[in-house]
Amino acid sequence: MQYFLVYNTYELKDKEFIFDYRYPLFEAYESCIQKGVMYNEAFVMIDTMAAKFKAMSDTICSRSSRQHHEKLFFTNLVKNLQKYDDLDAFFNEYAENNNMVQAFEYAIVVRHLGILLNDTIEAVAYDNPEGMKILGNLQTYNTSNKIVDARNAIKDYCLLDYALYADIPQRQFMLWQQMSGILALSVLSIAITLLTFVYTIRNWLKQQKLSDMKSDFINNISHELKTPLATIAVASKSLQNEKIRNNRSMTDDLLEVNSRQTKRLQKLIDQVLDLKMWEKGTLQLDKVAVNLNEFLENLINDFKLRMEEDKKVNIEINFADFNDKINIDKFHFTTAIYNLLDNAVKYSEEKASIRIRSSRLNNKVNIEVSDKGIGMNRRTQQYIFEKFYRGQQGNIHTIKGLGLGLYFVKKSIEAHGGVISVKSQKGRGSTFTIILPID
Ligand SMILES: Nc1ncnc2c1ncn2[C@@H]1O[C@H](COP(=O)(O)OP(=O)(O)OP(=O)(O)O)[C@@H](O)[C@H]1O
Ligand SMILES: [Mg+2]
Repeated sequence: MQYFLVYNTYELKDKEFIFDYRYPLFEAYESCIQKGVMYNEAFVMIDTMAAKFKAMSDTICSRSSRQHHEKLFFTNLVKNLQKYDDLDAFFNEYAENNNMVQAFEYAIVVRHLGILLNDTIEAVAYDNPEGMKILGNLQTYNTSNKIVDARNAIKDYCLLDYALYADIPQRQFMLWQQMSGILALSVLSIAITLLTFVYTIRNWLKQQKLSDMKSDFINNISHELKTPLATIAVASKSLQNEKIRNNRSMTDDLLEVNSRQTKRLQKLIDQVLDLKMWEKGTLQLDKVAVNLNEFLENLINDFKLRMEEDKKVNIEINFADFNDKINIDKFHFTTAIYNLLDNAVKYSEEKASIRIRSSRLNNKVNIEVSDKGIGMNRRTQQYIFEKFYRGQQGNIHTIKGLGLGLYFVKKSIEAHGGVISVKSQKGRGSTFTIILPID
Protein backbone atom coordinates (compact mmCIF):
# COMPACT_ATOMS: atom_id res chain seq x y z
CA MET A 1 0.00 0.00 0.00
CA GLN A 2 2.80 2.37 0.89
CA TYR A 3 4.56 1.60 -2.36
CA PHE A 4 1.35 2.28 -4.25
CA LEU A 5 0.80 5.54 -2.41
CA VAL A 6 4.33 6.79 -2.97
CA TYR A 7 4.36 5.71 -6.59
CA ASN A 8 1.06 7.43 -7.31
CA THR A 9 2.14 10.58 -5.58
CA TYR A 10 5.27 10.62 -7.67
CA GLU A 11 3.29 10.15 -10.85
CA LEU A 12 0.91 12.93 -9.90
CA LYS A 13 3.72 15.29 -9.02
CA ASP A 14 5.39 14.46 -12.29
CA LYS A 15 2.22 15.21 -14.24
CA GLU A 16 1.63 18.39 -12.31
CA PHE A 17 5.17 19.43 -13.03
CA ILE A 18 4.82 18.81 -16.74
CA PHE A 19 1.48 20.58 -16.78
CA ASP A 20 2.96 23.60 -15.01
CA TYR A 21 5.94 23.84 -17.32
CA ARG A 22 4.94 22.43 -20.67
CA TYR A 23 2.18 24.79 -21.70
CA PRO A 24 3.86 28.09 -20.84
CA LEU A 25 7.02 26.83 -22.54
CA PHE A 26 5.06 25.68 -25.54
CA GLU A 27 3.44 29.10 -25.88
CA ALA A 28 6.72 30.91 -25.48
CA TYR A 29 8.35 28.70 -28.11
CA GLU A 30 5.50 29.12 -30.58
CA SER A 31 5.49 32.87 -30.33
CA CYS A 32 9.25 33.16 -30.51
CA ILE A 33 10.00 30.90 -33.45
CA GLN A 34 9.17 32.60 -36.71
CA LYS A 35 7.30 30.49 -39.19
CA GLY A 36 7.29 27.63 -36.71
CA VAL A 37 10.40 25.76 -37.81
CA MET A 38 12.94 24.66 -35.21
CA TYR A 39 14.63 28.00 -34.63
CA ASN A 40 14.76 31.39 -36.25
CA GLU A 41 17.43 30.77 -38.88
CA ALA A 42 16.22 27.28 -39.66
CA PHE A 43 13.41 28.15 -42.06
CA VAL A 44 15.60 30.06 -44.49
CA MET A 45 18.42 27.54 -44.20
CA ILE A 46 16.23 24.55 -44.96
CA ASP A 47 14.46 26.38 -47.75
CA THR A 48 17.72 27.38 -49.46
CA MET A 49 19.32 23.94 -49.16
CA ALA A 50 16.14 22.10 -50.17
CA ALA A 51 15.76 24.30 -53.26
CA LYS A 52 19.34 23.53 -54.28
CA PHE A 53 18.76 19.84 -53.72
CA LYS A 54 15.60 19.92 -55.78
CA ALA A 55 17.32 21.69 -58.61
CA MET A 56 20.13 19.15 -58.64
CA SER A 57 17.78 16.18 -58.40
CA ASP A 58 16.39 16.89 -61.82
CA THR A 59 19.78 16.09 -63.33
CA ILE A 60 20.24 12.78 -61.50
CA CYS A 61 18.76 9.70 -63.08
CA SER A 62 20.26 6.61 -61.45
CA ARG A 63 18.58 5.35 -58.31
CA SER A 64 21.74 4.71 -56.34
CA SER A 65 23.22 8.12 -56.97
CA ARG A 66 19.93 9.69 -56.02
CA GLN A 67 20.01 7.85 -52.70
CA HIS A 68 23.57 9.01 -52.14
CA HIS A 69 22.51 12.51 -53.01
CA GLU A 70 19.63 12.39 -50.50
CA LYS A 71 21.89 11.15 -47.76
CA LEU A 72 24.46 13.81 -48.42
CA PHE A 73 21.81 16.48 -48.44
CA PHE A 74 20.50 15.38 -45.05
CA THR A 75 23.96 15.17 -43.47
CA ASN A 76 24.87 18.62 -44.71
CA LEU A 77 21.57 20.07 -43.59
CA VAL A 78 22.01 18.64 -40.08
CA LYS A 79 25.53 20.03 -39.90
CA ASN A 80 24.34 23.46 -40.87
CA LEU A 81 21.40 23.35 -38.50
CA GLN A 82 23.76 22.45 -35.66
CA LYS A 83 26.10 25.21 -36.59
CA TYR A 84 23.54 27.97 -36.30
CA ASP A 85 21.43 26.52 -33.54
CA ASP A 86 20.45 29.34 -31.17
CA LEU A 87 17.86 27.55 -29.07
CA ASP A 88 20.23 27.74 -26.08
CA ALA A 89 19.73 31.47 -26.11
CA PHE A 90 15.96 31.01 -26.17
CA PHE A 91 15.96 28.64 -23.19
CA ASN A 92 18.35 30.79 -21.18
CA GLU A 93 16.20 33.83 -21.74
CA TYR A 94 13.10 31.86 -20.83
CA ALA A 95 14.76 30.71 -17.58
CA GLU A 96 15.72 34.27 -16.74
CA ASN A 97 12.23 35.64 -17.43
CA ASN A 98 10.65 32.95 -15.28
CA ASN A 99 13.11 33.08 -12.39
CA MET A 100 14.24 29.52 -12.91
CA VAL A 101 17.44 28.37 -11.21
CA GLN A 102 18.48 26.22 -14.15
CA ALA A 103 17.57 26.47 -17.82
CA PHE A 104 15.83 23.62 -19.62
CA GLU A 105 17.78 20.98 -21.45
CA TYR A 106 16.29 20.32 -24.87
CA ALA A 107 16.38 18.01 -27.84
CA ILE A 108 15.13 18.40 -31.40
CA VAL A 109 14.32 15.03 -32.90
CA VAL A 110 13.67 14.69 -36.65
CA ARG A 111 11.45 11.86 -37.82
CA HIS A 112 10.91 12.71 -41.47
CA LEU A 113 12.40 14.99 -44.07
CA GLY A 114 11.20 14.76 -47.64
CA ILE A 115 11.33 16.99 -50.75
CA LEU A 116 8.53 16.86 -53.34
CA LEU A 117 10.19 16.71 -56.73
CA ASN A 118 6.84 16.94 -58.55
CA ASP A 119 3.24 16.12 -57.70
CA THR A 120 3.87 12.43 -57.19
CA ILE A 121 7.56 11.88 -56.48
CA GLU A 122 9.07 12.61 -53.07
CA ALA A 123 12.79 12.34 -52.35
CA VAL A 124 13.06 11.04 -48.81
CA ALA A 125 16.17 12.37 -47.10
CA TYR A 126 15.32 10.84 -43.72
CA ASP A 127 12.47 8.74 -42.38
CA ASN A 128 12.27 6.88 -39.11
CA PRO A 129 9.39 6.95 -36.59
CA GLU A 130 11.93 6.61 -33.76
CA GLY A 131 13.57 9.81 -34.95
CA MET A 132 17.09 11.15 -34.76
CA LYS A 133 18.24 13.73 -32.28
CA ILE A 134 19.97 16.45 -34.21
CA LEU A 135 20.08 19.31 -31.71
CA GLY A 136 20.32 19.79 -27.96
CA ASN A 137 21.80 17.97 -24.97
CA LEU A 138 18.76 16.33 -23.36
CA GLN A 139 19.59 12.66 -22.86
CA THR A 140 16.21 11.03 -22.22
CA TYR A 141 13.25 12.20 -24.19
CA ASN A 142 9.80 10.66 -24.30
CA THR A 143 6.15 11.68 -24.24
CA SER A 144 6.45 12.98 -20.70
CA ASN A 145 8.79 15.79 -21.73
CA LYS A 146 7.60 16.45 -25.27
CA ILE A 147 6.77 20.11 -25.84
CA VAL A 148 5.81 20.29 -29.50
CA ASP A 149 5.09 17.79 -32.20
CA ALA A 150 5.55 19.73 -35.43
CA ARG A 151 4.71 18.73 -38.98
CA ASN A 152 5.72 21.55 -41.27
CA ALA A 153 5.51 22.02 -44.98
CA ILE A 154 8.11 24.52 -46.04
CA LYS A 155 6.86 26.33 -49.12
CA ASP A 156 4.70 23.39 -50.17
CA TYR A 157 7.54 21.20 -51.32
CA CYS A 158 9.66 20.39 -48.23
CA LEU A 159 8.01 18.18 -45.61
CA LEU A 160 9.55 18.26 -42.17
CA ASP A 161 8.33 16.25 -39.20
CA TYR A 162 10.14 16.84 -35.90
CA ALA A 163 9.55 17.19 -32.17
CA LEU A 164 10.94 19.41 -29.46
CA TYR A 165 11.57 17.92 -26.03
CA ALA A 166 12.62 19.92 -23.00
CA ASP A 167 13.21 19.01 -19.39
CA ILE A 168 14.67 20.37 -16.19
CA PRO A 169 18.06 18.77 -15.42
CA GLN A 170 17.61 16.16 -12.64
CA ARG A 171 13.85 16.48 -12.62
CA GLN A 172 13.41 13.08 -10.89
CA PHE A 173 15.80 13.99 -8.10
CA MET A 174 13.99 17.29 -7.62
CA LEU A 175 10.61 15.53 -7.43
CA TRP A 176 11.90 13.01 -4.88
CA GLN A 177 13.23 15.90 -2.86
CA GLN A 178 9.83 17.55 -2.89
CA MET A 179 8.35 14.26 -1.71
CA SER A 180 10.76 13.73 1.18
CA GLY A 181 8.02 14.47 3.75
CA ILE A 182 5.73 11.83 2.29
CA LEU A 183 8.61 9.37 2.07
CA ALA A 184 9.55 9.92 5.71
CA LEU A 185 5.93 9.44 6.79
CA SER A 186 5.69 6.32 4.74
CA VAL A 187 8.84 4.83 6.27
CA LEU A 188 7.55 5.80 9.70
CA SER A 189 4.19 4.14 9.14
CA ILE A 190 5.91 0.96 7.90
CA ALA A 191 8.13 1.00 10.97
CA ILE A 192 5.12 1.47 13.27
CA THR A 193 3.26 -1.36 11.55
CA LEU A 194 6.27 -3.65 11.92
CA LEU A 195 6.77 -2.72 15.55
CA THR A 196 3.11 -3.30 16.35
CA PHE A 197 3.30 -6.61 14.57
CA VAL A 198 6.39 -7.73 16.49
CA TYR A 199 4.86 -6.52 19.75
CA THR A 200 1.63 -8.43 19.09
CA ILE A 201 3.47 -11.62 18.17
CA ARG A 202 5.63 -11.37 21.26
CA ASN A 203 2.62 -10.81 23.45
CA TRP A 204 0.86 -13.70 21.88
CA LEU A 205 3.86 -15.97 22.43
CA LYS A 206 4.06 -14.83 26.02
CA GLN A 207 0.39 -15.65 26.57
CA GLN A 208 0.92 -18.98 24.91
CA LYS A 209 3.84 -19.75 27.21
CA LEU A 210 1.88 -18.68 30.26
CA SER A 211 -1.04 -20.86 29.35
CA ASP A 212 1.31 -23.82 28.71
CA MET A 213 2.94 -23.24 32.07
CA LYS A 214 -0.41 -23.07 33.83
CA SER A 215 -1.58 -26.33 32.33
CA ASP A 216 1.76 -27.94 33.27
CA PHE A 217 1.20 -26.67 36.78
CA ILE A 218 -2.28 -28.16 36.96
CA ASN A 219 -0.94 -31.48 35.70
CA ASN A 220 1.93 -31.44 38.15
CA ILE A 221 -0.13 -30.47 41.14
CA SER A 222 -2.85 -33.02 40.47
CA HIS A 223 -0.20 -35.69 40.18
CA GLU A 224 1.46 -34.48 43.37
CA LEU A 225 -1.85 -34.49 45.21
CA LYS A 226 -3.00 -37.84 43.92
CA THR A 227 0.11 -39.81 44.96
CA PRO A 228 -0.07 -39.15 48.73
CA LEU A 229 -3.86 -39.48 48.66
CA ALA A 230 -3.62 -42.90 47.02
CA THR A 231 -1.00 -43.99 49.57
CA ILE A 232 -3.19 -42.79 52.44
CA ALA A 233 -6.17 -44.63 50.97
CA VAL A 234 -4.20 -47.87 50.69
CA ALA A 235 -2.78 -47.54 54.22
CA SER A 236 -6.23 -46.82 55.70
CA LYS A 237 -7.71 -49.76 53.86
CA SER A 238 -4.97 -52.00 55.27
CA LEU A 239 -5.71 -50.72 58.76
CA GLN A 240 -9.26 -51.97 58.40
CA ASN A 241 -7.87 -55.46 58.09
CA GLU A 242 -8.23 -57.34 61.40
CA LYS A 243 -4.96 -59.22 61.07
CA ILE A 244 -2.93 -56.12 60.45
CA ARG A 245 -4.61 -54.23 63.26
CA ASN A 246 -3.52 -56.94 65.66
CA ASN A 247 0.08 -56.63 64.52
CA ARG A 248 1.45 -53.72 66.48
CA SER A 249 4.54 -53.01 64.38
CA MET A 250 2.62 -53.12 61.10
CA THR A 251 0.01 -50.74 62.48
CA ASP A 252 2.76 -48.36 63.57
CA ASP A 253 4.36 -48.50 60.13
CA LEU A 254 1.08 -47.74 58.39
CA LEU A 255 0.29 -44.89 60.76
CA GLU A 256 3.76 -43.54 60.10
CA VAL A 257 3.08 -43.72 56.34
CA ASN A 258 -0.18 -41.85 56.84
CA SER A 259 1.38 -39.14 58.90
CA ARG A 260 4.25 -38.69 56.38
CA GLN A 261 1.86 -38.43 53.46
CA THR A 262 -0.38 -36.02 55.38
CA LYS A 263 2.63 -33.81 55.99
CA ARG A 264 3.49 -33.94 52.33
CA LEU A 265 -0.04 -32.92 51.42
CA GLN A 266 0.11 -30.12 53.96
CA LYS A 267 3.35 -28.87 52.47
CA LEU A 268 1.91 -28.85 48.98
CA ILE A 269 -1.19 -27.00 50.06
CA ASP A 270 0.92 -24.47 51.95
CA GLN A 271 3.02 -23.88 48.86
CA VAL A 272 -0.04 -23.08 46.77
CA LEU A 273 -1.52 -20.88 49.48
CA ASP A 274 1.80 -19.08 49.80
CA LEU A 275 1.61 -18.30 46.12
CA LYS A 276 -1.45 -16.10 46.72
CA MET A 277 0.39 -14.25 49.47
CA TRP A 278 3.49 -13.62 47.33
CA GLU A 279 1.41 -12.55 44.37
CA LYS A 280 -0.53 -10.02 46.38
CA GLY A 281 2.71 -8.69 47.82
CA THR A 282 1.30 -8.72 51.34
CA LEU A 283 4.43 -10.29 52.75
CA GLN A 284 5.21 -8.98 56.22
CA LEU A 285 8.79 -9.70 57.23
CA ASP A 286 9.39 -10.36 60.87
CA LYS A 287 13.06 -9.45 61.03
CA VAL A 288 15.46 -10.32 63.82
CA ALA A 289 19.20 -9.78 64.07
CA VAL A 290 21.15 -13.01 63.60
CA ASN A 291 24.74 -14.02 63.22
CA LEU A 292 24.74 -15.16 59.61
CA ASN A 293 27.42 -17.85 59.90
CA GLU A 294 25.79 -19.47 62.88
CA PHE A 295 22.38 -19.25 61.32
CA LEU A 296 23.58 -20.87 58.09
CA GLU A 297 25.42 -23.61 59.98
CA ASN A 298 22.30 -24.57 61.93
CA LEU A 299 20.20 -24.48 58.82
CA ILE A 300 22.64 -26.74 56.96
CA ASN A 301 22.77 -29.20 59.86
CA ASP A 302 18.99 -29.42 59.84
CA PHE A 303 19.01 -29.96 56.13
CA LYS A 304 21.65 -32.68 56.41
CA LEU A 305 19.56 -34.40 59.08
CA ARG A 306 16.58 -34.36 56.80
CA MET A 307 18.64 -35.86 54.03
CA GLU A 308 20.20 -38.42 56.38
CA GLU A 309 18.00 -41.22 55.15
CA ASP A 310 19.25 -41.18 51.59
CA LYS A 311 22.80 -39.98 52.38
CA LYS A 312 22.91 -38.56 48.92
CA VAL A 313 24.44 -35.26 49.82
CA ASN A 314 27.82 -33.86 50.67
CA ILE A 315 27.92 -30.24 51.81
CA GLU A 316 31.12 -28.22 51.99
CA ILE A 317 31.13 -24.99 53.93
CA ASN A 318 33.38 -22.00 53.42
CA PHE A 319 32.33 -18.98 55.47
CA ALA A 320 33.85 -15.52 55.66
CA ASP A 321 35.26 -14.56 58.97
CA PHE A 322 32.79 -11.95 60.16
CA ASN A 323 30.59 -11.64 63.13
CA ASP A 324 28.27 -8.79 62.24
CA LYS A 325 24.63 -9.48 62.75
CA ILE A 326 22.24 -9.13 59.90
CA ASN A 327 18.51 -8.59 60.00
CA ILE A 328 16.43 -11.30 58.41
CA ASP A 329 13.09 -12.96 58.66
CA LYS A 330 14.18 -16.39 59.88
CA PHE A 331 11.27 -18.31 58.45
CA HIS A 332 11.34 -16.87 54.94
CA PHE A 333 15.11 -16.81 54.73
CA THR A 334 15.33 -20.43 55.84
CA THR A 335 12.75 -21.39 53.23
CA ALA A 336 14.74 -19.60 50.55
CA ILE A 337 18.04 -21.34 51.38
CA TYR A 338 16.20 -24.65 51.77
CA ASN A 339 14.72 -24.27 48.31
CA LEU A 340 18.20 -23.68 46.87
CA LEU A 341 19.60 -26.71 48.68
CA ASP A 342 16.58 -28.74 47.68
CA ASN A 343 17.16 -27.87 44.01
CA ALA A 344 20.88 -28.62 44.30
CA VAL A 345 20.02 -32.14 45.49
CA LYS A 346 17.13 -32.61 43.08
CA TYR A 347 19.07 -31.53 40.02
CA SER A 348 22.21 -33.57 40.75
CA GLU A 349 22.32 -36.95 39.14
CA GLU A 350 23.86 -39.12 41.86
CA LYS A 351 25.43 -37.93 45.06
CA ALA A 352 24.89 -34.21 45.34
CA SER A 353 28.01 -32.23 46.05
CA ILE A 354 27.10 -28.79 47.36
CA ARG A 355 29.34 -25.91 48.40
CA ILE A 356 28.11 -22.96 50.43
CA ARG A 357 30.27 -19.88 50.72
CA SER A 358 29.71 -16.58 52.39
CA SER A 359 31.83 -13.51 51.89
CA ARG A 360 31.63 -9.85 52.62
CA LEU A 361 31.84 -6.91 50.24
CA ASN A 362 31.72 -3.48 51.90
CA ASN A 363 28.34 -3.35 53.58
CA LYS A 364 26.93 -6.29 51.71
CA VAL A 365 27.14 -10.00 52.25
CA ASN A 366 27.41 -12.60 49.53
CA ILE A 367 26.00 -16.10 49.91
CA GLU A 368 26.81 -18.63 47.21
CA VAL A 369 25.18 -22.03 46.83
CA SER A 370 26.94 -24.14 44.18
CA ASP A 371 26.34 -27.66 42.99
CA LYS A 372 27.92 -29.95 40.44
CA GLY A 373 24.59 -31.14 39.10
CA ILE A 374 22.97 -31.19 35.69
CA GLY A 375 23.18 -27.42 35.22
CA MET A 376 21.07 -25.55 32.70
CA ASN A 377 21.42 -23.71 29.44
CA ARG A 378 21.18 -19.96 29.02
CA ARG A 379 17.57 -20.02 27.92
CA THR A 380 16.44 -21.92 31.00
CA GLN A 381 18.40 -19.56 33.23
CA GLN A 382 16.36 -16.64 31.89
CA TYR A 383 13.09 -18.06 33.14
CA ILE A 384 13.81 -20.07 36.29
CA PHE A 385 12.70 -17.28 38.65
CA GLU A 386 9.28 -17.07 37.00
CA LYS A 387 6.44 -18.84 38.70
CA PHE A 388 5.47 -22.26 37.38
CA TYR A 389 8.55 -22.44 35.19
CA ARG A 390 10.24 -25.82 35.11
CA GLY A 391 13.45 -26.55 33.22
CA GLN A 392 12.18 -29.42 31.18
CA GLN A 393 8.77 -28.26 30.13
CA GLY A 394 5.81 -30.56 30.20
CA ASN A 395 4.38 -33.01 32.56
CA ILE A 396 7.54 -34.35 34.21
CA HIS A 397 7.24 -36.65 37.12
CA THR A 398 10.78 -37.97 37.22
CA ILE A 399 11.89 -34.93 39.20
CA LYS A 400 8.97 -33.65 41.19
CA GLY A 401 8.17 -30.00 41.56
CA LEU A 402 5.72 -27.22 40.83
CA GLY A 403 8.15 -24.67 39.46
CA LEU A 404 7.51 -22.38 42.43
CA GLY A 405 10.66 -22.84 44.54
CA LEU A 406 12.86 -20.24 42.89
CA TYR A 407 9.93 -17.85 42.48
CA PHE A 408 9.55 -17.84 46.28
CA VAL A 409 13.32 -17.52 46.73
CA LYS A 410 13.51 -14.45 44.51
CA LYS A 411 10.50 -12.78 46.13
CA SER A 412 11.84 -13.47 49.56
CA ILE A 413 15.36 -12.19 48.82
CA GLU A 414 13.93 -9.09 47.19
CA ALA A 415 11.71 -8.47 50.21
CA HIS A 416 14.95 -8.51 52.23
CA GLY A 417 16.36 -5.81 49.95
CA GLY A 418 18.75 -8.22 48.27
CA VAL A 419 19.26 -9.68 44.80
CA ILE A 420 19.72 -13.20 43.53
CA SER A 421 21.44 -14.32 40.35
CA VAL A 422 22.49 -17.56 38.74
CA LYS A 423 25.48 -18.81 36.79
CA SER A 424 25.25 -22.22 35.27
CA GLN A 425 26.61 -24.47 32.57
CA LYS A 426 24.79 -27.46 31.26
CA GLY A 427 26.34 -30.65 32.60
CA ARG A 428 28.74 -28.77 34.87
CA GLY A 429 26.58 -27.44 37.69
CA SER A 430 25.06 -24.20 38.91
CA THR A 431 25.88 -21.42 41.34
CA PHE A 432 23.20 -19.23 42.90
CA THR A 433 24.45 -15.99 44.43
CA ILE A 434 22.50 -13.96 46.97
CA ILE A 435 23.65 -10.47 47.84
CA LEU A 436 22.10 -9.00 50.97
CA PRO A 437 22.61 -5.60 52.57
CA ILE A 438 24.04 -5.96 56.05
CA ASP A 439 21.99 -3.19 57.49
N1 LIG B 1 20.54 -26.29 41.03
C1 LIG B 1 19.92 -26.45 39.86
N2 LIG B 1 20.52 -27.13 38.85
C2 LIG B 1 19.89 -27.27 37.67
N3 LIG B 1 18.68 -26.77 37.37
C3 LIG B 1 18.04 -26.08 38.33
C4 LIG B 1 18.62 -25.87 39.61
N4 LIG B 1 17.76 -25.16 40.35
C5 LIG B 1 16.69 -24.92 39.57
N5 LIG B 1 16.84 -25.47 38.36
C6 LIG B 1 15.88 -25.39 37.24
O1 LIG B 1 15.01 -24.33 37.51
C7 LIG B 1 13.65 -24.77 37.46
C8 LIG B 1 12.82 -24.01 38.46
O2 LIG B 1 13.21 -24.35 39.75
P1 LIG B 1 12.16 -24.20 40.93
O3 LIG B 1 12.87 -24.50 42.19
O4 LIG B 1 11.52 -22.87 40.81
O5 LIG B 1 11.07 -25.28 40.59
P2 LIG B 1 11.11 -26.85 40.79
O6 LIG B 1 12.33 -27.26 41.54
O7 LIG B 1 10.93 -27.44 39.46
O8 LIG B 1 9.81 -27.11 41.64
P3 LIG B 1 9.57 -26.67 43.19
O9 LIG B 1 8.44 -25.73 43.12
O10 LIG B 1 9.20 -27.92 43.85
O11 LIG B 1 10.82 -26.07 43.68
C9 LIG B 1 13.74 -26.25 37.71
O12 LIG B 1 12.66 -26.94 37.11
C10 LIG B 1 15.06 -26.64 37.11
O13 LIG B 1 14.92 -26.91 35.75
MG1 LIG C 1 12.79 -26.26 43.39
